[in-house]
Amino acid sequence: MNFDMEMEKRLAEITGILESYLPKEEGFQKTVLEAMNYSMRAGGKRLRPMLMQETYRLFGGESRVIGPFMAAMEMIHTHSLIHDDLPALDNDEYRRGRKTTHVVYGEAMAILAGDALLNYAYETAVRAFDLEPGNPAVGKALAVLTKKTGVYGMLGGQCVDVEAAGRNMTREKLDFIYRLKTSALIEGSMMVGAILAGASDEEVSVIEQAAADIGLAFQIQDDILDVTSTTEELGKPVLSDEKNEKTTYVTIEGIEKAKEDVKEISKRAVGTLQSLGRKNDFLEELLVQLIDRKR
Ligand code: IPE
Ligand code: IPE
Ligand code: MG
Ligand code: MG
Ligand code: MG
Repeated sequence: MNFDMEMEKRLAEITGILESYLPKEEGFQKTVLEAMNYSMRAGGKRLRPMLMQETYRLFGGESRVIGPFMAAMEMIHTHSLIHDDLPALDNDEYRRGRKTTHVVYGEAMAILAGDALLNYAYETAVRAFDLEPGNPAVGKALAVLTKKTGVYGMLGGQCVDVEAAGRNMTREKLDFIYRLKTSALIEGSMMVGAILAGASDEEVSVIEQAAADIGLAFQIQDDILDVTSTTEELGKPVLSDEKNEKTTYVTIEGIEKAKEDVKEISKRAVGTLQSLGRKNDFLEELLVQLIDRKR
């Protein structure tokens, strides 16, 4: 397998799917629609829809029903980034190689564009009911998508993260924050892929466990890049965590241990996936590549 070529192929396919679900920029609310699409079209790694689709394939899924869920997840993720960058949260001015939404459209419009994208995500996901009206997995997948986004998922993690800035932090609380703010959407992505492909409850729970590790390793690497990379390479500001007095995995464990742990946790995730006795070579290689990701 030529990984880079396979990656390019998949990214093109994902871009096409996302594009087909973006709203038209028209009507009196044109500005907010532009702001929504500005951030969605800025690019990004598209990791969550990719993990969703690859998990779907791991369980033999082949239908178009995954499309609205892939688009919805990237909208939810993009909403989280627009709000994460706001002056009241991390106050960052670059994202995905562009000025952030609030810098370009103003704070009010960025708050509303974030809200609108989150809701549009659900408007998009429910279109799966029209594609496969009789498929009970659609409702089940929707329940997971909504829960992993909310106060018991990503949004809950963001709340604890913001409240903890500049204060004493324990490793236990940090683990909680990472599990929610980052792992939750990755868990949701992979679980939705598995559920729509007809995986059993036991299999879905193995996927959740692997995804929790993938998210944890991903966030630790994000913390590492925040201190070791450059704004040009990352497409977002470096040293954002220090600026916001965030305690991170790197400040608690040190950079060398953090790097080792990214490797170890990623390998554990691959092992968990392999325990299912199914094969998706691209997915496995993707997880290995993420260990050394530079952006
Ligand atoms: C950024 O996510 C937020 C984190 C959870 C660290 P990504 O690094 O996946 O951002 P994009 O989608 O590629 O821009
Ligand atoms: C990412 O935390 C979590 C979410 C955006 C949900 P960060 O604040 O570390 O993400 P970046 O570094 O700004 O992408
Ligand atoms: Mg943040
Ligand atoms: Mg941030
Ligand atoms: Mg970060």
